[in-house]
This record gives sequence, structure tokens and C-alpha cells, in this order.
Amino acid sequence: MRFSRMEGIRLAFNFGFWKPTKQEWLLGISCVQPEEKERIMNFVYKKDAKSALIGRLLMRKVLSGHFNLPYNEVILKRTSKGKPYLANETIEPSLGNLSFNISHQGDFTVLAAEPNMTVGVDVMKTAYPSSSTVPSFFHTMRKQFTADEWQTIKSQGCEWKQLQMFCRHWCLKESYVKATGFGIGHDLQAVEFKINTIQIHPQTVVCDTQFFLDGKAVDGWKFEESKLDNLHQVAVALCPSHKNKEYGSLRIQNFVEVQFADIVSSAVPLFPSLESDWTEFESKREKVN
Ligand SMILES: CC(C)(COP(=O)(O)OP(=O)(O)OC[C@H]1O[C@@H](n2cnc3c(N)ncnc32)[C@H](O)[C@@H]1OP(=O)(O)O)[C@@H](O)C(=O)NCCC(=O)NCCS
Repeated sequence: MRFSRMEGIRLAFNFGFWKPTKQEWLLGISCVQPEEKERIMNFVYKKDAKSALIGRLLMRKVLSGHFNLPYNEVILKRTSKGKPYLANETIEPSLGNLSFNISHQGDFTVLAAEPNMTVGVDVMKTAYPSSSTVPSFFHTMRKQFTADEWQTIKSQGCEWKQLQMFCRHWCLKESYVKATGFGIGHDLQAVEFKINTIQIHPQTVVCDTQFFLDGKAVDGWKFEESKLDNLHQVAVALCPSHKNKEYGSLRIQNFVEVQFADIVSSAVPLFPSLESDWTEFESKREKVN
């Protein structure tokens, strides 16, 4: 797995399918920073531990490659709102900057990275609400979307199509909130999307969705929307990080699905692994949804 320094990166890993062997788990968990290892090992469910571990490994892989950093010397910190960033001080300035973000939900962990851009990504699996009807689920979510967005969502025919459109809007909003790094607390009514291409076909990326902030069309941002499979929707929010707000050589790309071996192909453990890391993982519960 090699990346061009000039181009963006879109990676997806299906952790729902992944049944780690002992060797895989011990290698993976030994390749993340101690505070992240502790966070991952504290999850009750296997699924949450796997999705979070893969996120960390994807970030380390991409950052060590892009910045020519020894794998085990990549230092990731989080902003006060939780967004991970590269904290190494010895970055070669000619390598420019690389904004990156991860998301994990449903069965996938995804990473989007782009040079000279601010990036946010969100993945969401469409599913029927587990404990309510679709109309009452929408009712509880009514404040998250504007009247026009609800009009688009509810005009989609059957409930499944409405849920898909709901997820699309959700991903778009989350991707923007994640690019800004603002996190929970953003006024989501102020962030509005107008979808122009209703159907997203497999292997295509839709980029014509319009973005409004406080009711005004916003030019600087671009949103890439695609599907990883029939159920998983992804949105990538992009905004040039330099002042002249040009997109330069931005190449629209689809997500590439990667395997565990790809993610750890250049991994170097930060610490020796412990036998108990495996037994602890094995004792975690399986989550149905
Ligand atoms: C983290 C947050 C920004 C997104 O959470 P989420 O959608 O549950 O989770 P995702 O899987 O998409 O993303 C989580 C990852 O994003 C990154 N992240 C954490 N905080 C972040 C922030 N403030 N900004 C950007 N990325 C962040 C992390 O890498 C995290 O994974 P990790 O902790 O395993 O490393 C969440 O705090 C949030 O504010 N959500 C908005 C809630 C909301 O009301 N949404 C309504 C949309 S209509």
C-alpha cells in the first residue's frame, strides 16, 4: 500500500468481518500509544475495541508514510474536543501538511486524508431503528435537520429510502462538524445541505451537494459522498487550508478497502505485547448491532 504525497487518501476497513487471530491482535495493540491502548482495552464490546484499534493503526500507517517518520515515533495527540492530530515536532517542512480524520460505525472504519486541506469524514450504516418506528425515530431527531432537509428525507418514498437519505444528511453534517473539529455542541440547524443527486451508485462519488451555513451558500467547502456497500454511506468534507481557497490538484477518489496485513505492513511495535492483552480481548462481549 503506497500513497502519493500529492494526493488524498481514502481507506476503508471492514472490522465487522475481521476476526483477529491472537497474533494479529497482539501486534495491533502493541503498535498504539499507551493511553489509546488503555482506551481500546476498556471497551466492553469486541466490535468497539476492533473499530477503534483499526482507526489508530490507519492513522499511524498513513502519517508515518507521508512524513517519512519511523512508525514507532509517530506521536498522536488530541485537541480539547478530541480530534487527533500529529504532534511530532521534527516534520520536514517541504512535506507540507496532511489533514486526516477517521470514523467508525456499522462495520467499517474509514480514514480520509488530504494534503493542504481541512478534512472531516463520517461513515454510517443504514438500519431500522431498534426500539421505535421510523416516524417516531424521525420525530426524536427533528431538531438535527432543517425543514428543507426533512422535506428531502421524507419525500423519498418507502421508509428504507427515507432512512438512507437521513443517513446521507447525517454523514454530511458530521463530516463538516468533524472537519472543523468542533464536535458535539455545534448548532446543526445552521449547517444545511441541499442534495442534487438523489441516487449514489456504487463506485461513484457524488460532489454536487450544496452547503449552506446560516442560510447562505458557502463556496469554500466540497463534500464527497459515496457508498462502501449497499448499507454504508460515507461523506468527506474538504476545505482548502491555505488562504487563497483553491482546490489545486484535488482528485476525486473512491474509498479503497484494505486488509489487516496492509494496515500493519510497516508497523513497528511501540511496546512488547502482553499475553493478557489477548485474553482480555477474547473475554469481551459480541455486540449484535
Ligand atoms: C467525535 C464526534 C465529533 C463524532 O463522533 P461519532 O460520529 O460518534 O464518531 P465517528 O466514528 O464518526 O468519529 C470518531 C473519531 O473521530 C475523531 N474525533 C474525535 N473527536 C473529534 C472532533 N472533535 N473532531 C473531529 N474528529 C474527532 C476520533 O479519531 C474518533 O475516533 P477515536 O476516538 O477512536 O480515535 C462527536 O463528538 C460529535 O460531536 N458528534 C456530533 C453529534 C451530533 O449531534 N451529530 C448530529 C449529526 S446530524
